[in-house]
Amino acid sequence: MRLSVPGHASALVLAGFRDVPDFPEPGVVFKDITPLLADPVAFGAVTAVLADLAAATGADAVAGIEARGFMLAAPAAERAGAGFWPVRKAGKLPPPVLRRDYDLEYGSASLELAASAVRPGARVLVVDDVLATGGTARAACELLEEGGAEVVGLVVLLELAFLSGRARLGDRPVVALHVQD
Ligand code: PRP
Ligand code: MG
Repeated sequence: MRLSVPGHASALVLAGFRDVPDFPEPGVVFKDITPLLADPVAFGAVTAVLADLAAATGADAVAGIEARGFMLAAPAAERAGAGFWPVRKAGKLPPPVLRRDYDLEYGSASLELAASAVRPGARVLVVDDVLATGGTARAACELLEEGGAEVVGLVVLLELAFLSGRARLGDRPVVALHVQD
């Protein structure tokens, strides 16, 4: 499936993210989405793009990855008339849960999905703010697939191409509103 992104999306992301050098560790440039969220026009426009992609993929649900993915996926899901599925950091959900451990650009973490949240056979679009090494997004996709859902794609606002995260997503379609080389 070929998914197109409108031309203005890249500029919205570029203007809406703030670079924070040496956070949370020396040598890491943190990509802060706060300015975009605080701008109602930009936030609405980005949410609309995500909702259009959800509709184009025929998604029954939009999954957001805690925490920043929640902020984007939930309004997009509502706007697209799709369900919202939260993929959570470990330890927040009561059992039964599906769980995946993964490596981050800085450190490691675990994601969980409520077994009751996944509808087998449902088409789900995964949304997050940044694709860096791809470990987070891959773990989320694997959880959803383990639950029986079909991942129709991953959409991120910003892809850090120099970290080659896309390669860790295998054949799953990946769409980035803005790519930083
Ligand atoms: C950040 C970002 C992505 C992930 C990308 O989340 O929001 O989810 O890292 O990194 P990766 O592609 O190397 O896996 P993080 O868990 O750091 O923080 P958050 O809870 O604020 O979203
Ligand atoms: Mg995150």
